[in-house]
Amino acid sequence: MLNFDFYNPTHILFGKGRIADLSRVVPADARVLVLYGGGSIKSNGVLDEVRQALSGHAVQEFSGIEPNPSYETLMRAVELVRNEKLDFLLAVGGGSVIDGTKFVAAAADFEGDPWSILEKRGANVVRALPFGSILTLPATGSEMNNGSVVTRKSLKAKMAFSSVHVFPKFSILDPAKTFTLPVRQIGNGVVDAYAHVMEQYMTYPVNSPVQDRFAEGILQTLIEEGPKALADPDDYDVRANVMWCATLALNGLIGAGVPQDWATHMVGHELTALYGLDHAQTLAIVLPSMLQVRKESKRAKLLQYAERVWGLKDGDEESRIDGAIEKTRNFFEQMGVKTRLTDYALGAENIDAVLSQLKSHRMVTLGERRDVTLAVSRQVLELSI
Ligand code: NZQ
Ligand code: ZN
Repeated sequence: MLNFDFYNPTHILFGKGRIADLSRVVPADARVLVLYGGGSIKSNGVLDEVRQALSGHAVQEFSGIEPNPSYETLMRAVELVRNEKLDFLLAVGGGSVIDGTKFVAAAADFEGDPWSILEKRGANVVRALPFGSILTLPATGSEMNNGSVVTRKSLKAKMAFSSVHVFPKFSILDPAKTFTLPVRQIGNGVVDAYAHVMEQYMTYPVNSPVQDRFAEGILQTLIEEGPKALADPDDYDVRANVMWCATLALNGLIGAGVPQDWATHMVGHELTALYGLDHAQTLAIVLPSMLQVRKESKRAKLLQYAERVWGLKDGDEESRIDGAIEKTRNFFEQMGVKTRLTDYALGAENIDAVLSQLKSHRMVTLGERRDVTLAVSRQVLELSI
């Protein structure tokens, strides 16, 4: 096992009716800004519940944080926070709203150009406003981690930052609030969580059996519960299991002490920045080909994955590995997320543009062995057509 630090201070309030607990976890004297997206929380009643729970607090609202939150929009929220001297943020929504809120929290008191937070990937963040979240879309794990991804539209740059100062103080996870998700977002969420586990598990062995079994347990639970969420969208227990899987997939636990990959995510971010695909759509396209192209360096873990997650024990090594990759692709398709560039009207003609974005963002040696060069990324994209 590799050396590691594990630190996760986020208080999770999980279950039905937990929004009512807000007044207990938001400081009584806080000047609160509630941040949200395009309006789903208005139509499903979540915003009303939040207003009710915070009726004794000083509250303002900021709406319009878009999927793949933009720097341009978030800087308007930063201005509001500064002008109104607000001192506590509450994100209500999916990963985009939570990520956006993390950026606002870090930028509000930042000395210098806030864009440098993203350019320096968060290394220059020395403080942030406290914030909590109410999660309405299980997918990213942002509710219990310290990462954030922001897009500067004018530059077509989708960049991530992380800082110990941007863990949510608390996150409220009420699975019943996910009943109103459109089918596309249910599928996206399961695929994103699955990909998060794979980025931390599908590398090379370092004798970390408990991390491996946690990871395999999350994958198997997503394989079992994901399709049920599509088939029976009103089943609370299914939603609860999917929600907790997505949080556990990226809260630091399974990634402690093991090598991590993240090449699929980095290539995927460029597809979103250039062509506007949903985050999970990009992962569904890139991940199966990434495993195929890099199967020699991932051989031992691919064989373990084939056997333990997909029950593939018979046949030669090659056919078990190919079978596991095929089953991964089929699972994404079963969740309604297409896995080929052509499914999104993209193809060979778009690959050079993705590579030049990767180059300009210094994403030229990706992966757990830093061996995913631009040539490897090209091979992966060519196999994804
Ligand atoms: O904006 P509203 O109207 O709220 O609608 C949203 C949005 O259109 C809708 N939605 C959310 N909850 C709903 C709902 N609709 C009905 N009922 C509900 N209960 O869903 C749409 C997508 O929301 P979004 O927040 O964009 O999705 P997601 O949670 O998948 O977040 C994606 C973003 O997170 C980043 C991605 O790159 C992307 O920008 N990621 C963040 C990570 C992190 N912080 O650790 C890691 C991930 O790998 C990822 O990169
Ligand atoms: Zn992701």
